[in-house]
Amino acid sequence: MNIITPTADGSNTLYNETIGEHYHSKHGALQESKHVFIDAGLKFASAGKTEISILEVGFGTGLNFILSHQYCTENNIKLHYTSIEAYPLARNLIEQTGYEAYVPKEIWASFIANYDAALKGTQSLSPLCNLEIPHIQLADFQSTRKFDIIYYDAFSVQHQAEMWSDEIIAHACSFLKAGGTFVTYAITGKLKRAVKANGCMIEKLPGAPGKREMLRAIKAVEDNSDTIYTT
Ligand SMILES: C[S@@+](CC[C@H](N)C(=O)[O-])C[C@H]1O[C@@H](n2cnc3c(N)ncnc32)[C@H](O)[C@@H]1O
Repeated sequence: MNIITPTADGSNTLYNETIGEHYHSKHGALQESKHVFIDAGLKFASAGKTEISILEVGFGTGLNFILSHQYCTENNIKLHYTSIEAYPLARNLIEQTGYEAYVPKEIWASFIANYDAALKGTQSLSPLCNLEIPHIQLADFQSTRKFDIIYYDAFSVQHQAEMWSDEIIAHACSFLKAGGTFVTYAITGKLKRAVKANGCMIEKLPGAPGKREMLRAIKAVEDNSDTIYTT
């Protein structure tokens, strides 16, 4: 059972009774999503680009998606958004989050209209945005595609330790392009070592309110002729 719960910035989140955790920070769902995924992830990784692909782990309410859609539309960036979700929420619960207040109405309307279909395959929400939500466990997800950005938004290690094991982090990192960006709200020594072991250079950034730090990692460029980052 998921219960709609307000957070400190006035935006709602869901509390998952089975896992015993909220979908977002209690200090502010909207500000966490903007800080970690949009500002540290998308704005950083899409600078100078006209097209971007994002792989998210944990679609949940779609808050990260609608904010990404809005940012890409406003900046004329073509967005390919793939978000793995093992336990999709019912559309009518997503409609009760109040998140429609945070994005232009066309973005919200196209999201709600396409949500159920996106769980079955890729949908075009606008000329600048495709969305697919593979209904699968991360461990079972396979793709020949690689992505520019990974939004790693699993429940915390305290509540879902298997989502932070070395093996599952390696599996997630295998979908990152050379030069691609991995961002998450969490940061632990174990996570830093796991991400580094997968060829990424790590950065500690100030965390969203309520968290001191967060992790951003950049995958090394394999072709030395245009190396930007090295491990
Ligand atoms: C912290 S919430 C994600 C919040 C989401 N990004 C949002 O903006 O609402 C974690 C999500 O991971 C999903 N999840 C849990 N186990 C998973 C697994 N093994 N594979 C993929 N998704 C999983 C949960 O159902 C939940 O939607």
